[in-house]
Amino acid sequence: MTDQPEAGPGSGPESGPESGPGSGLEPGPVTWRRDGTLGIVTINNPPVNAIGQAVRLGLMQVLERAAADTDLTGLVLCCAGRTFVAGADITELGQRLDPTLPQVIARLEALPFPTVAAIHGTALGGGLELALGCTFRVAAPGARLGLPEVKLGLLPGAGGTVRATYLIGARAALDLIGTGNPLPADAARNLGLIDAVAGAQDAPTRAACDHLRRHNAQGAISPPVLHRKDAMPPPDMAAFGDHARKLLRKARSAAPVAVVEAIRNALVLPPVEALARERALFQAALESPVSAARRHLFFAERKAARLPRDIRDAARGDTHPGALPGPRPEARHLARAGVVGAGLMGSGIAMALADAGFDVTLREVSQEALQKGLARIARSYDKDVARGRLSAPQARTRRLRIVGTTDLAALSECDLIIEAAFEDLAVKQDIFRDLDRIARPGAILATNTSYLDLDAIAAVTARPADVVGLHFFSPAQRMTLLEVVRGARTAPDVLASALALARRMGKQPVIVGAARGFVGNRMLAARNAPLARLLLEGATPAAVDAAFRDFGWPMGPFEMQDMAGLDISWRNRKATGQAEPLADALCEAGHFGQKTGRGWYRYEDGARTPLPDPHVTRLSRTLAARRGVAPRALEAAEIIARTHGPLVDEGRAILREGIAARASDIDVIWTHGYGFPGDLGGPMYWARTQGLIDDG
Ligand code: CAA
Repeated sequence: MTDQPEAGPGSGPESGPESGPGSGLEPGPVTWRRDGTLGIVTINNPPVNAIGQAVRLGLMQVLERAAADTDLTGLVLCCAGRTFVAGADITELGQRLDPTLPQVIARLEALPFPTVAAIHGTALGGGLELALGCTFRVAAPGARLGLPEVKLGLLPGAGGTVRATYLIGARAALDLIGTGNPLPADAARNLGLIDAVAGAQDAPTRAACDHLRRHNAQGAISPPVLHRKDAMPPPDMAAFGDHARKLLRKARSAAPVAVVEAIRNALVLPPVEALARERALFQAALESPVSAARRHLFFAERKAARLPRDIRDAARGDTHPGALPGPRPEARHLARAGVVGAGLMGSGIAMALADAGFDVTLREVSQEALQKGLARIARSYDKDVARGRLSAPQARTRRLRIVGTTDLAALSECDLIIEAAFEDLAVKQDIFRDLDRIARPGAILATNTSYLDLDAIAAVTARPADVVGLHFFSPAQRMTLLEVVRGARTAPDVLASALALARRMGKQPVIVGAARGFVGNRMLAARNAPLARLLLEGATPAAVDAAFRDFGWPMGPFEMQDMAGLDISWRNRKATGQAEPLADALCEAGHFGQKTGRGWYRYEDGARTPLPDPHVTRLSRTLAARRGVAPRALEAAEIIARTHGPLVDEGRAILREGIAARASDIDVIWTHGYGFPGDLGGPMYWARTQGLIDDG
């Protein structure tokens, strides 16, 4: 520990240092100082103050020292930098390094004077658990508090389920911990998770000191959170059961089940026993393959969102030995955005941009098509309001950010223009010729193509370095994945801008190479190629879909195709001279999927429940007989092997060709964009854990 002053927004009143040279305390990520009779403990472990072993050791040392200081009347726990503790250090999870977080929290809770956590930024996971070990919690107005462990296949393991239940009740604790979604400070205060929200102008540390002084002046006695069980109303176990069932209905993995058990324990067992059971559940979850897969994805997502080193180095000019590195590529300033094409994709992209605060000019060729697009946008925002996702004024503000036009020149002042027109190279090249003519110098010109050759599009402009692919997934305003397609001449700062744009839009970017279908769609084609053959050999669409769902996919490939419509691929096949006898026969009979009431399944009276269609079975049998294929029973394991094997093989080919930089990027693409079960970590991670490959 050192006696450096606090650096972050948690800064509080200064007074003489109490630790440092001669104090016998080692320098480290935890510092200590006195403010009158209050002790101020600051954690300084950039970037997010994650609690690793060094922080736990530092905290233990400070707490021992504070306990021995007979003058102290209270202690404030705060953090330097941009945030309060954002959780246990995920890189250390699984290593049993003493002291443990529960030990640190027990020591904190046993101090003979009141303590308060001064929270800014985010208090997440182990960070919030640490704060729950304090007598009080005071947060900055913009702070967010959560227990997101379920998202890592875990549950809180340092008393979070127990103490949160005592503070906010079982129902609210189920919502908080079962969903893992953080709460804003106001909502946390209304629930009783925190005691006060600091004023907009107050540093939370100062507000926390004031809170303690007021408390002490009143001579009040406040028990530690762990001793507040008796103050709870008697639990209504029936209501708890109902609420838990609702939560678990949506759950796909074991972690929410463990959360429910831990909260039930908090209600019915003595606190110390409930804590011990929570820890045991946490340890079991930690050792589960699901948690390992989720942690893999956590880091994979963050790696994917950064500019790869080769691009950074190329931009800095340090690829030649001895060359002086130039500056890192800076993202360009993007304020005004344009979208070309107001179809399903274009209007979704316009909404995603408006949702991120951009003023958007949406251009269509005809008034009629434009009005159709704008009406679609209005309907979509109305739906958001009806479903409680947005308030009416919020929806209105966003909708008004989108202005329609039929005049391409209206995009001339845009910093970013995203083309989302018909998927045809000549059409897109025409648009890019026009954009090159009208766009301001330095504007980023992006195409949303999902298959076409980005370099062939960029080549028609005099500024190929400004051209990039931004492959959104439908519906663009909801889906998080964004494939950022790097053309042969795309400038590093354009890629940096695309990553910054994704962050601003709340999307998960992955940089991919400019090859047909990029990464996601190319692998999808490989996965789906064997499907028709499976039907010929005797599988039914329902059997294939069930095998996929059992594997963890939210939906099987045939249900998915019925939902999306079979006609688009059919038209593409006809245009390119390809054939897919089964699917072609369905389309020729007008069976395009849900929208026509028949496809791979039949649907009754506009309902969305897929029912087996004997017509499909007959067609498969006829075709099989014609080809001399004898139908047989196919096990789910074979169905998975014959579809997922090609998926993984294509992923490996993509890596060999450098279309994706890392196997983990492919995992991010498939879990964010295609519904590959996150509990399995993505296709390449899954293949590696199954021993199918050793280089994924
Ligand atoms: N442990 C280790 N590293 C972490 C971390 C953690 N808990 N949280 C973030 N980081 C790292 C990231 O990997 C990233 O590192 P690089 O710069 O090397 O990529 C860096 O901190 C910054 O993170 P972000 O890019 O995510 O920054 P952000 O500003 O977008 O988001 C955040 C900040 C909201 C805190 C986000 O990082 C986050 O959600 N973190 C994880 C929170 C979480 O899940 N906490 C629970 C941990 S499990 C736990 O605590 C169990 C327990 O009880 C014992």
